[in-house]
Amino acid sequence: MKRETVHPAKSINGGLELPGDKSISHRYAMLAGLADGASELRHFSAAADCHSTLACMRALGAEVKIEKDTVRVVGRGTQGLRATRRALDAGNSGTTMRLLSGILAGQPFSSKLTGDESLQQRPMKRVIGPLREMGAQIRARDDNFAPLEIHGAPLKAIDYHMPMASAQVKSAVLLAGLFADGLTSVTEPATTRDHTELALEQFGATLEKHGRTIRIHALASANENANLAPQSLDVPGDLSSAVFFIAAASLFPESSLLIHNVGLNPTRTAILDFFASMGASIQILSLRTSHGEMVGDLAVKGASLRGGVLEGASIPLLIDELPMLAALGPYTEEGIEIRGAAELRVKESDRIAALADNLRRMGATLEERPDGLKVAGRQTGKLRGAEIDPRGDHRIAMAFAVAALAAHGPSVVRNAECAGVSYPNFFEELQRLAQR
Ligand code: S3P
Repeated sequence: MKRETVHPAKSINGGLELPGDKSISHRYAMLAGLADGASELRHFSAAADCHSTLACMRALGAEVKIEKDTVRVVGRGTQGLRATRRALDAGNSGTTMRLLSGILAGQPFSSKLTGDESLQQRPMKRVIGPLREMGAQIRARDDNFAPLEIHGAPLKAIDYHMPMASAQVKSAVLLAGLFADGLTSVTEPATTRDHTELALEQFGATLEKHGRTIRIHALASANENANLAPQSLDVPGDLSSAVFFIAAASLFPESSLLIHNVGLNPTRTAILDFFASMGASIQILSLRTSHGEMVGDLAVKGASLRGGVLEGASIPLLIDELPMLAALGPYTEEGIEIRGAAELRVKESDRIAALADNLRRMGATLEERPDGLKVAGRQTGKLRGAEIDPRGDHRIAMAFAVAALAAHGPSVVRNAECAGVSYPNFFEELQRLAQR
């Protein structure tokens, strides 16, 4: 168990390269494993989660070679995955488990999928339901939790109306749709990240989009060449990781930070709009497109943050950024209020409880609610360094490391290695950029 001490800082200055985007890396790894031939994925995420996906694809028969942040995957074609007797281990990664379930549902063999203690507590019914409708047989503990036993089958195309806004559920159904007997359609109640759609198109699948409905053509019915084509791709830097440094830089008037090569897919940038609405100083430079994804550099300066309310359709668009926003709350003018985000309770930890607990440890005033929190503003002078318990959750560890920069006295983040789930050298980078 690693303990990281975070001392108060005066500003955040310098340049930063982020690890490759976690969501995009998962998708490229899975699709490269299904493609027919050798793909090269550059700037692949260093996150433990994405390496769980690579290990699963390797266990299913893809050849995977990792050299620094370049990953070469030789896929055996959409019919080429093979059964493995050992359980596939998704580690801490909900994305690995839910997306892979979609692929495994369409295979002519059975698989077992498991994960760490936290992942075994996270709801899987949301993917089990539609995949069963398509024809897969799936067994789960209490019909909801991993380990999952997935007996693949020839799948039926369905028209699925999602009861919740979740990119993972949408993706599981779309990936299963590759193996179905026709046109599978998914309608989401609110827009969520569309990396699966963009990645599927890169690898040669055929999709149509009408409003919030996405249709995917099964590979076999789409064309005579029923395979995905291997690709050579660059993964942009992870905006969700950038957010910790955007928040850190915003805290101090003297900050000046340049973050290079950040993924700016419009289904992910609601967080930048919210920062802008709070008065943050973030400039987007050299906006460009790379393999269907938007990418740019971000220049961040210190600013006084107003705070605000997050609710409604914006919640799924910045769900991973809510921990950082809540932890910034005490340093804003009006505080941060989050409503309609009960989903936060079934992430890598119960994030509402973890945020409330650690904010209180720092002496902040807040109200915890079943579906969110209300964190009071104007508490800058009041917050003190504390011992932070991230509850094994990477985003809680990083959010409070940032909040600790502006508190009185040092803080200690317990079990700090959990940051490696998405950002293995986070603490080194924070240390490098923090001026004292
Ligand atoms: C993700 C989707 C989101 C997000 C997660 C990554 C993805 O989860 O919280 O970190 O890559 O599809 P949900 O689909 O559960 O909202």
